Amino acid sequence: MHVILVTGGAGFIGSNFVLNWLANQQEPVVVLDKLTYAGNPDNLAHYQNDPRLQLVVGDIGDRALVEGLLSQHQPRAVLNFAAESHVDRSIHGPADFIETNIVSTFSLLESVRGYWQNLAEPARQAFRFLHVSTDEVYGSLSDTAPAFTEQHRYEPNSPYSASKAASDHLVRAWHHTYGLPVLTTNCSNNYGPYHFPEKLIPLMILNALNGKALPVYGDGKNVRDWLYVVDHCRAIERVLAAGQVGETYNVGGCNEKTNLEVVHTLCDILDELQPRADGASYREQIRFVQDRPGHDRRYAIDASKIIEQLGWTPQESFETGIRKTVEWYLSHPEWVEKVQSGAYREWLGKQYAE
Ligand code: NAD
Ligand code: TYD
Repeated sequence: MHVILVTGGAGFIGSNFVLNWLANQQEPVVVLDKLTYAGNPDNLAHYQNDPRLQLVVGDIGDRALVEGLLSQHQPRAVLNFAAESHVDRSIHGPADFIETNIVSTFSLLESVRGYWQNLAEPARQAFRFLHVSTDEVYGSLSDTAPAFTEQHRYEPNSPYSASKAASDHLVRAWHHTYGLPVLTTNCSNNYGPYHFPEKLIPLMILNALNGKALPVYGDGKNVRDWLYVVDHCRAIERVLAAGQVGETYNVGGCNEKTNLEVVHTLCDILDELQPRADGASYREQIRFVQDRPGHDRRYAIDASKIIEQLGWTPQESFETGIRKTVEWYLSHPEWVEKVQSGAYREWLGKQYAE
């Protein structure tokens, strides 16, 4: 029986990937996750007694641990979701981003290279290292510029995107120099269940329900392309199964929205599903606040390569996906309660003090 190793599998996208994988396949998964503030074993609770899932708490930069896991489980693939992922946190404190996204990714690549080089054929031929990255490495687009293709040059603007860009370059180099069979995906903004509420969509849902301000940065006209997380997970499965070694694939939802449009949509769905006691709209809680430094204006993904070459398409529209997401937060009060811990409240105090 084959096995896959998923790093960062207790985070938002990683846990959705693992849940989706175990629901649809027999192949076991070993999750390696450091359980930072963003990692949450509760996300995987549904499979906690399933022998196909093993959660190992540790750092991708721990050579001894990673090499031990590789040698013990002999995975046919390593999927790297582990990262520091929040732009605002990278502005307050870039060091963790440099450490995990660059230094520890380098260490992971070295561990994996050593393992892969010693595999016997045909396992060596079949092995894949799939690196999950972001569209933010391409920088910011004007309102009318064409969407990012895989050929777009790297122009990262935040400490987060610069650290992800560096990791993408390392992955590329480990393929070109050492022949490591890598695949890279660059995805747009994900949303859906288990999203840690520091990011726009879950933050707005929870702030609305808690009667707090809905803090929209700047003029609210920054544009993001939104992809339902399960569609992203399906894309990663497809790239793992059929992607060409050494290639990168852009993944997007074809759902460009301004932040204000997103917040309005969330307010309207909440007005319908859980109206405010006073009958007013949640839109009344919207507040325009100081802009994020260096705030990228627009991201847009041209996903034609993965659509045409690998036959992937998103199944969820923004309208269906965002409704499912709000419904998920309303129907999981225990998860919501637990993630709003002291550390989370500390972050809100730091970021939204004014
Ligand atoms: P997340 O912050 O929710 O989860 C990251 C996970 O990685 C957490 O479980 C954390 O504990 C773990 N982790 C952090 N440092 C680690 C380390 N050194 N060793 C082991 N585990 C570690 O992030 P996410 O939103 O799930 O993003 C997953 C990946 O997808 C990241 O690489 C991110 O850059 C990329 N991405 C995210 C989005 C998005 O919209 N969220 C979009 C495109 C790409
Ligand atoms: P975010 O979810 O942090 O993702 P990213 O910065 O990686 O795209 O933010 C999405 C957009 O929402 C981004 O343009 C910043 C904006 N935003 C706000 O306006 N208010 C907020 O409180 C947050 C967290 C984000």
